[in-house]
Amino acid sequence: MRFALVLDDWGELGLPYQPYPDGREPMNPTITDLTITEPTNSDPMITEATITDTPVDLADHIRSSSAEQHRSTEQRTFITELMRGQRSLADYTRYLAQYAWVYEALEELVVRVKSLDLFDPTLARLATIENDLTALGVSDWRREHPPLPATVAYVTHLRALAQSDNLRCLAHHYTRYLGDLSGGQAISRLVARHYGATAEQLSFYRFDDIGDIVKYKRAYRDGLNALTLSKEEVDDLVAEVDAAFTFNGAIFDELAA
Ligand code: HEM
Repeated sequence: MRFALVLDDWGELGLPYQPYPDGREPMNPTITDLTITEPTNSDPMITEATITDTPVDLADHIRSSSAEQHRSTEQRTFITELMRGQRSLADYTRYLAQYAWVYEALEELVVRVKSLDLFDPTLARLATIENDLTALGVSDWRREHPPLPATVAYVTHLRALAQSDNLRCLAHHYTRYLGDLSGGQAISRLVARHYGATAEQLSFYRFDDIGDIVKYKRAYRDGLNALTLSKEEVDDLVAEVDAAFTFNGAIFDELAA
């Protein structure tokens, strides 16, 4: 038999995606074509790879590149204990207050950098975080919950991005908002169940203006795929998503300490 494996745009033979253990949908493998032809006597079996210019599925590429980081971040002690009911509403409040700092910087950045269609203002979360913090008994989050060193590092990084860094901004945008629209929904349910948080305290996870969350996430991923980027830009984007996960993980580690 003769195999011709056609590889993805980056010349990589993508292995089929390992689905997340919690049942998230597996991603498409990046093999874009496979042909099998009959063997010839002189040439019994040849594996041959060619690179095509088939556009890469950027959304899948980002998701698969960050899958390991995602796993490691969602399994940080603080998050695991929070999700298992081993923490308290006060701990959740400390966590949320750190994200007030992060979203303040992120949302300032989103309006400062060169615009992208994906920068939908209805995603903005700072106002909902502030409302939730008030409902959780925090009257002045800046004074009562100063930023942890890891939060300072994250915010400093976001503030240092230039107006032309809209792809780097997109990396943070993707990591936070798609995360809120995904695992964030589970966090909301569990914080309500374990610690009795009320709807008024959990508006952060309600995206009333975007309609169906699943459809919205699909459209966001389509929006990623509609971007025309060079390989260098894609690599930068992926590296920045990686950095975004690292910043988030560092906050969780400090919250656990
Ligand atoms: C309790 C912890 C978490 C759980 C249970 C969780 C769970 C999930 C699930 C189930 C999805 C897939 C949703 C889908 O395919 O529609 C997802 C996607 C995602 N999560 Fe998490 N997550 C957690 C924490 C985080 C954190 C801390 C971040 C980032 C800081 C994050 C960022 C993302 C991103 C960016 C996606 C979108 C992936 C894509 O479709 O491209 N998650 N998460």
